[in-house]
Amino acid sequence: MTDRRDNKSGRDGLTDKSNSPISQQLQWGGRFGAGPDAVMQAINVSIGFDAKLWAEDIAGSRAHAAMLAAQGIISADDAAAINSGLSVIAGEIEAGSFSFADALEDIHTNIEVRLTERIGEAARRLHTARSRNDQVATDFRLYVRGAIDNLLLQVQDLMRAFATRAAEHAGTVMPGFTHLQTAQPVTFGHHLLAYVEMLNRDAGRLRDARARLNECPLGAAALAGTSFPIDRHATAAALGFDRPTANSLDSVSDRDFALEYLSAVSILAMHLSRFAEEIIIWCSSPYGLIKLSDAFTTGSSIMPQKRNPDAAELTRAKTGRITGALVGLLTVMKGLPMAYAKDMQEDKEPVFDATAAISLCLAATAGMVRDMDADTARMAELAGSGFSTATDLADWLVRVLKMPFRDAHHVTGQIVRLAEAKKLDLAGLTLAEMQSVEPRITAELFNVLTVEASVASRVSYGGTAPGNVARAAQKWLDQLA
Ligand code: ARG
Repeated sequence: MTDRRDNKSGRDGLTDKSNSPISQQLQWGGRFGAGPDAVMQAINVSIGFDAKLWAEDIAGSRAHAAMLAAQGIISADDAAAINSGLSVIAGEIEAGSFSFADALEDIHTNIEVRLTERIGEAARRLHTARSRNDQVATDFRLYVRGAIDNLLLQVQDLMRAFATRAAEHAGTVMPGFTHLQTAQPVTFGHHLLAYVEMLNRDAGRLRDARARLNECPLGAAALAGTSFPIDRHATAAALGFDRPTANSLDSVSDRDFALEYLSAVSILAMHLSRFAEEIIIWCSSPYGLIKLSDAFTTGSSIMPQKRNPDAAELTRAKTGRITGALVGLLTVMKGLPMAYAKDMQEDKEPVFDATAAISLCLAATAGMVRDMDADTARMAELAGSGFSTATDLADWLVRVLKMPFRDAHHVTGQIVRLAEAKKLDLAGLTLAEMQSVEPRITAELFNVLTVEASVASRVSYGGTAPGNVARAAQKWLDQLA
């Protein structure tokens, strides 16, 4: 730290007539005589991550410049120069030839300085009636809106994958669990469609967040609005926002749109994590309900027999960092007085990281859903174990013998105990053994003890019967087509 003005990133092409660092010349030159300490720059700089916002930043600047010209605040020539200069810069960034400088702190200043290099004075008029505070709020809303649009496509794709497999397995029986104990037989298709319902609500939450965030903060300026005759409705419309935000302080100071997005993403990730956990259980050799192919498993470097569901495990694990992003940003925001504070610069990395993670998890989950191969024989075998049709037995006692359900539950419990003692399943007991518990039982009872009969009887709205599942899967496939 010998020379505090040392610009390590070295933007050689910049002319610096006043001999003060370019960042200060451009942003707050008049007030400052000396440059920042290296540590000051290190803690302040955001270009390392907010460069990701370049396209949004350029879009915002174009809309702003066009509006300034339309309102007679800058000349049409200046606006045209700004517009074509920004096109050149977009091209440079896309081509990878743009050199981002730490000394220029963030994406806004990096682009503005480069624009000034290219077009001169017109660029220095672009910041009229705007601040980086409303600029970054606008860029970030545009980014989150784009992220939501991309995620919605991925969620839909995953829903389609689930619904397709559900249609295929509408009649495949599997054990249904509560407390991870065998409870009642269900159909595999029904189980898969449960995730379609969850994902549909996830999509709804993302759409709700999008609708609420789609207001434009541009023109709020630093915090108070501006004395220039700007047209905020025009910039809002140009950027695809529904309307401008109504309060300039709120515009630059809240990040609730990012938090709402992260909340929706965290809930979505939680759903994916639960499915990942199920994949892991189903693949494990004691269960053996499904297999993943070579494409979605990894091997072990020491145990040749292993086939590990790493994609599912990492989906489960990435949920931790996504939830962490939400909690982190909530914690950043909770103590901030109005209006903007630099704390808010810490909003971006958690959102970028969570977005990359959820996108990967959605793709991996869709891949696994399409890849997995159900062992239907093993599913049927486990579906019938653990006295899984005991409820069907109790229901028969209620339906045929007109027993109150509580009594039927008690009688069935005694029959289960008898079967357990004899190491048999329910259908393995003789009629005489059944009758030793309840003399009015007839041979007809045995018809309800199979897993097929059990699932076929669950025709109540939303129940697991194959007919219900086939219809629901088709409904989703039509809707998602
Ligand atoms: N890099 C800053 C951020 O991400 C831009 C806004 C800076 N505003 C300011 N008043 N220093 O929040």
